[in-house]
Amino acid sequence: MSAHKPFSAASPALRFEIVARCPVTKARVSKLHLPHFTADTPMFMPVGTQGTMKGLTTQQLEDLDCHVILGNTYHLGNRPASTSRGPELLDEAGGLHQFMNWKRGLLTDSGGFQMVSLLKLAEITEEGVQFEAPHDGSLMMLTPEKSMELQNSIGADIMMQLDDVVSSLTTGPRLEEAMHRSIRWLDRCIKAHKRPQEQNLFAIIQGGLEPELRRQCVAEMAKRNLPGYAIGGLSGGEEKDQFWRMVTLCTDLLPEDKPRYCMGVGYAEDLVVCAALGVDMFDCVFPTRTARFGNALTAYGPLVLRQAQFEKDFRPIEEDCDCLTCKNYTRAYLYSIVTKDTVGCHLVSIHNISYQMRLMRGVRESIIAGEFPAFVRKFMRDRFGESN
Ligand code: GUN
Ligand code: ZN
Repeated sequence: MSAHKPFSAASPALRFEIVARCPVTKARVSKLHLPHFTADTPMFMPVGTQGTMKGLTTQQLEDLDCHVILGNTYHLGNRPASTSRGPELLDEAGGLHQFMNWKRGLLTDSGGFQMVSLLKLAEITEEGVQFEAPHDGSLMMLTPEKSMELQNSIGADIMMQLDDVVSSLTTGPRLEEAMHRSIRWLDRCIKAHKRPQEQNLFAIIQGGLEPELRRQCVAEMAKRNLPGYAIGGLSGGEEKDQFWRMVTLCTDLLPEDKPRYCMGVGYAEDLVVCAALGVDMFDCVFPTRTARFGNALTAYGPLVLRQAQFEKDFRPIEEDCDCLTCKNYTRAYLYSIVTKDTVGCHLVSIHNISYQMRLMRGVRESIIAGEFPAFVRKFMRDRFGESN
């Protein structure tokens, strides 16, 4: 193995300033200084404009006090590489920030995970992820170099390495191969990254549910001295107990002074537990996806707004929520439209993102006030009933 040079010892495009710690758990609060915005962590990052009825506008996301959103990877290679105008278009538009009119933090995933999880026809080789183009079925290849080129054109504050993602239930040689390949692809991404002064490349820890593989992966990736680290390959149907063990192992071994991002995690109880385990960033389509089915998130668990019990319930989704939906509409109104009109699902999406933001604000404020353990106890009591 050749010696690898850290692409930047000083992380010129990111400063991670820890401002408070919980003395009992591993939770911390930080100011994450990014090129476009200073974000407060622990934070939940919603998926930006999805281009469907689930999506919110960037103005709404700003009004909801979102600090960082996930950029749409729609622009990533959805046309054959030879004819792709995605990068050119984005270069012309001045990057995705300007194109979508979002002034705050932006994070893009590398595209491979989406290809593998959304398009069943992806095939992974050492070269990259090969998949059939959705529009004409032609074969396309997403390599680490291509992913970096596209993400450099998009211009997000944080970009993710291309990783070899397998189901979190995979075991044996394929799991081990995916972990080692993710390290090799990380090195190719580091080499191909053209804008380390302006954009931060995060590594993604793989290794499934195998502690030894996770340990090896963290050890190797930490040597690359990247501006931040993600924990990937989880939240795919494994037991909670195993999920939390893997997160614990990773946050025990990852550098203290770098942000940690748990990918694809968005259930309230996971956000609270993982924040206690020292995770700083989360993303998930869950809050907006579940809104589409008329499910509103609350401190006491979800309300299934299409159920007849809400027909004459003239209260807001949550009394203490100050979102546009709760200030202006009742459960009864939402019941009457939620399965019939896209406006209903849009209003529930607004509330659900607001719920996630309020939850994370509560986590941060309680850590700062030295009351995080009490916050967790109350959260669990409200959410799951009296048990202590
Ligand atoms: N989103 C959720 N999990 C993952 C992962 O393991 N890798 C990538 N690239 N994206 C994800
Ligand atoms: Zn609300």
